[in-house]
This record gives sequence, structure tokens and C-alpha cells, in this order.
Amino acid sequence: NRDFTDVSMAVIRRLPKYHRYLKDLLDKEVYRISSRELSRLIGFTASQIRQDLNCFGGFGQQGYGYNVEELYKEIGNILGLNRVYSTVIVGAGNLGQAIANYPSFVKYGFELHGLFDVNPKLVGMKIRDINIYDVDELGTFVKENDIEIGIICSPKEVAQDITDTLCKANIKGIWNFAPIDLKVPKDIIVENVHVSESLFILSFLLNEKSKRD
Ligand code: NAI
Repeated sequence: NRDFTDVSMAVIRRLPKYHRYLKDLLDKEVYRISSRELSRLIGFTASQIRQDLNCFGGFGQQGYGYNVEELYKEIGNILGLNRVYSTVIVGAGNLGQAIANYPSFVKYGFELHGLFDVNPKLVGMKIRDINIYDVDELGTFVKENDIEIGIICSPKEVAQDITDTLCKANIKGIWNFAPIDLKVPKDIIVENVHVSESLFILSFLLNEKSKRD
């Protein structure tokens, strides 16, 4: 297993975009691409692309370009998409159910083992064959089933308590949708999706543009 700790997070954060574009190319049966063509598609400069991909040992060949399939697989491997992850969703409301219903996560190896909620109307129901359990069972379930990833889709007021339960149950990572910054022990990884932050950037840009027009 190669270690990528010396690769900057800025580069890592661009990898999912490469991965997505390479998948689209493969779907279109394009098997070879130059950094210039890739640049035209993705919008990063060709030199940026060469630099990014060089961090991982340079996949390209002078005069040939990149082998799309190889590059796609390799970026998938770097991102850790070459194995299965066990997950649970905590908070089975609008967002929790939407995520549970989204087929792509399973396709990429993120297996959902259960949803958890406090609402007695939801507990006992199923989303796509997956049970909604009482949140009181969360810690035991995570421990007994070696769950690696907790997906937090609860109101923000309870997100820290849920996090503490997950951490005590040896969770490895948390995908947090609640609009709050969680406190976790340092060996636990949190990736936040603060949807409204991105929306507010959009509103900023819209207003800047209307000032210029
Ligand atoms: P929701 O109200 O539909 O669902 C929240 C669920 O959490 C409910 O089913 C509730 O019973 C459950 N819950 C409450 N306390 C709990 C606890 N202690 N343990 C387990 N479950 C508990 O809300 P929604 O819209 O699904 O949003 C969930 C979270 O995601 C919120 O923090 C929201 O700010 C955030 N969010 C929502 C987005 C959306 O598009 N709906 C987008 C981005 C973030």
C-alpha cells in the first residue's frame, strides 16, 4: 500500500472530478486521452493535470497521452474505491432517506447496513430493504457489525451526541451533513458536507455578477 501523506489535499480534492470525467470517457468508449484534451474537458490546465497525476507516479506516456481505463482504475484505487465500506445513516428523515435511496453509493462500495432514528413512526420501517432501527441501538449495532462510516443526517442539535456514540463504538469516519462542526478524537476522520455554504457562495457570485452587469 502506497502512502500519499505527502500529496497535498488540494490535489486529492481534485481526484473525484478526474474520476468522474474518466468514467464518462469510458462510457463513451474513449480509451486514450492527451492531457490537453483532458484539460479542455475538465477545465484544469494541461500542466496542472500533468502535475497532479505526477504526484502518483505519472500515468501518462509522452506522445501517447493517458490510458483512460488504467487512469480511472488507479485514481479509484488511490481514492480507496477498490474495497467495500460498511455504513449507517443516523437520522432517517428527508435527507437520510434520500441518501439511502441513492444507488451510486452502493455501486462504489459504500454498503448501507441500517438507518437509525428517534421517531417511533419511522423505527421498524424499511428503506430499500434496509431497516430503520431505534437510535438507542446505534452504539451496539456499530460495534457488533464493525461499521466503519457513520452518515449523520440528524438535526444539528443532536449531531454531537450521535457523534460521541459513534466514536465510542469505534467508528472510523463520519460523513456529516448537519450544519455543525463536530468534535471528535483525533484518529476519527470527519468529512463535512455543509450544503448551505456552497449555496451562499452561489448567492455571493450571483450578486457580484449583477453588480458588474
Ligand atoms: P428531517 O427533519 O427530515 O430529518 C431529521 C431526522 O432526524 C428525523 O427523522 C428525526 O426524527 C431524526 N432525529 C432527531 N433526533 C435524532 C436523534 N437523536 N437520533 C437519531 N435521529 C434523530 O431533516 P432533513 O431535512 O433530513 O435534514 C437533516 C439534517 O441534514 C439537518 O441537520 C439539516 O440541516 C441537514 N441538511 C439537510 C438538507 C436537505 O436538503 N434536506 C441539505 C443539507 C443538510
